[in-house]
Amino acid sequence: MHPHTNDPASRTPAAGVVTQTVEVRPTSQASKTTPTRSIPFGRPMIGDAEREAVMEVLSGPTLTHGPQVRQFEAAFAEFTKAPHAVATSSCTAALHLAYMFLDLGPQDEVIMPAQTHIATAHAVQLCGARCVFVDSEAETGNLDLDQLEAAITSRTKAICVVHYLGLPVDMQRVLTIAHRHDLFVIEDCALAVGATLDDVHVGLHGDVGCFSFYPVKHITTAEGGMLITRRRDVADAAATQRAFGIDRNIVSDRPTPGEYDVVHLGNNYRMTELGAAIGLVQMGRLGDFLAARRANYEALGAGLASIDEISMLRSTHGRFRSSYYGLALVLRDPVMSKRPQIMTSLKHRGVGCSVYYPRPVPHMSYYRRRYGFADNSFPVASRLSAASITLPVGPHLVREDVQYIVASVKDAIAAVR
Ligand SMILES: Cc1ncc(COP(=O)(O)O)c(C=O)c1O
Repeated sequence: MHPHTNDPASRTPAAGVVTQTVEVRPTSQASKTTPTRSIPFGRPMIGDAEREAVMEVLSGPTLTHGPQVRQFEAAFAEFTKAPHAVATSSCTAALHLAYMFLDLGPQDEVIMPAQTHIATAHAVQLCGARCVFVDSEAETGNLDLDQLEAAITSRTKAICVVHYLGLPVDMQRVLTIAHRHDLFVIEDCALAVGATLDDVHVGLHGDVGCFSFYPVKHITTAEGGMLITRRRDVADAAATQRAFGIDRNIVSDRPTPGEYDVVHLGNNYRMTELGAAIGLVQMGRLGDFLAARRANYEALGAGLASIDEISMLRSTHGRFRSSYYGLALVLRDPVMSKRPQIMTSLKHRGVGCSVYYPRPVPHMSYYRRRYGFADNSFPVASRLSAASITLPVGPHLVREDVQYIVASVKDAIAAVR
């Protein structure tokens, strides 16, 4: 076991040890200017072991694209049971590599949810192809599969699903439709490390899965991503194209220094050894992180269940196991239009929260200019953008944080009722 002496992980509910004692004032006294606690939406869980691993890399000769990256890929492949894992510089890079494999171009379309991070769409747009957006399902925030088949045209090359806030999309339905139309399937798993459907990790149901290790994600490498796949052809292409399309992408593979050929168009999407060294330590802690997320999610959900003016998006049920990225509340009347006041109140109380995502992608200025969507398009995604609040459940929370968030949400809603 690694020592994590400075690490908030030792204070998580999953670890069962609460060493931090912070007095929680009755919330009615919570001042508008002085937060009683400070709970970020997400915080990277960096401990002594991560710091030592980075220092060790810094004392060696290889700073990028070397043995740490290979070990991190192996650890991620083992955890997800992926036949192939290719580390990248970000999830956006992994998505772009998937489309480069497809040779996606201006004549092609990719279907995706309107309610997603801009990266899901940008990766397609960077290839000059067209994004075809589909509205969300109200209960989960995932792409509405009832609308999927109608979006397919003779130009459709791929379907990209996003496991929204870590809840798996019904991939059986997606694959039935994809096979019927001979389409490639990409899973954007940026928020879904640890999520499974039918006990199979997300990212392995379709042709390729792309993950993010940005600092507030389930594990971090500072910046970083991973592409997993069952297909050797996809993995081989991604491994080459993340490093300029060079046929021998590790210096040590070259019989004579400088001897290599360029067999494909490529990019510089390599992961650093520093990031991979952090990621490797984080993989050893992932089980605890996921258990803490689940415990925090359940405690928060139970605490908020009695509030009439909110509903919560669906999480783990039956065959669908969430990664518990965050807990999304959806405000209902009469407080639906009061989100700014509620979020400001939470901020004043020191409760970090977030919105996934602030506008449906087709309503972002760049996409509106390109595609000209009207305000009333994608009504479910628009409602999630306008009326949802995502609360933290990460392993940085201690037990009192959860109680404090519940009390703060109750107070904030009571104030605008
Ligand atoms: C659904 C989704 N896809 C892609 C990304 C981009 O990930 P990265 O920052 O690793 O490129 C994010 C970032 O949060 C995301 O939420």
